[in-house]
Amino acid sequence: MFLRIALALQTVAVFAAPVTAGVLLTVPSGLVWHSVSAYSVFAASIVHLAAAILAWRPGGGSPRPIVTATVFFVLVLAQIALGIAGVKVVHVPLGVLLFGASLLQLSRHLPERARA
Ligand code: HEM
Repeated sequence: MFLRIALALQTVAVFAAPVTAGVLLTVPSGLVWHSVSAYSVFAASIVHLAAAILAWRPGGGSPRPIVTATVFFVLVLAQIALGIAGVKVVHVPLGVLLFGASLLQLSRHLPERARA
């Protein structure tokens, strides 16, 4: 349950990133919004990792979500570094990939009846 909420928050945070990127490219103050959005994704990915660990111990679930949460967290760190370095050619597609990956993980943790 906690893992599902963490994944939903993370997905919303990653969805907001291209929106604030649009603001970044439109108004002078846009950089602040994209930075706030970027660090929200960073915080959400840490909460996701913590939730995956808690779902394993003491939750008694599978340790597999820890692997995906760790990979996601590493990709977020790379995304932040690429954004700061201004490597847009990798930064933009990686942002799209992060959103797709987060949505996919969320869909895998939805209750059976919500998936039907
Ligand atoms: C599809 C999604 C995204 C798009 C289209 C996008 C686009 C951009 C663009 C155009 C820049 C400016 C680069 C420059 O001026 O050279 C930027 C900077 C940045 N982006 Fe993104 N981004 C996306 C997602 C993300 C995500 C998910 C994160 C973090 C997890 C992130 C973190 C950053 C950071 C830290 C910067 C540098 C801001 C600064 O210079 O202070 N971006 N992004």
